Amino acid sequence: MIGWHKALPSAALPAGTLGSAVVAGRKVLLARLDDGTVTAARAMCPHQGADLSLGMLYFDAVDCPLHHYVYDLRTGRNRYPRNVYPAEMKESVADQQLYPVKEDDGWIWVKDPEARVDPHATSD
Ligand code: FES
Repeated sequence: MIGWHKALPSAALPAGTLGSAVVAGRKVLLARLDDGTVTAARAMCPHQGADLSLGMLYFDAVDCPLHHYVYDLRTGRNRYPRNVYPAEMKESVADQQLYPVKEDDGWIWVKDPEARVDPHATSD
């Protein structure tokens, strides 16, 4: 599995929880959503750099512990404050970078943290 790194035992990340791991020297946010899906993202908040692994997970999104910006962990899109900003300010809010992630042999694996997920790509 070239480019994939063991991040965390699958059993260490129950549904509805956040975790973190250092992958290739970079801290990665891990989450297991309520439906069991595992996601991986950059741990550093795009706003002012807080550690998102110390935030809260709800409705498939992470709520940053510092200023409560909310990032969708399926798409990386900022949900808040983008959803309340005036139209001319919405695009000034950065999205979060997601990483390719999978589970195999009892482990959560993250692909090279420099690799970005395209949330609009198809799986075929
Ligand atoms: S540092 Fe995360 S919302 Fe400000």
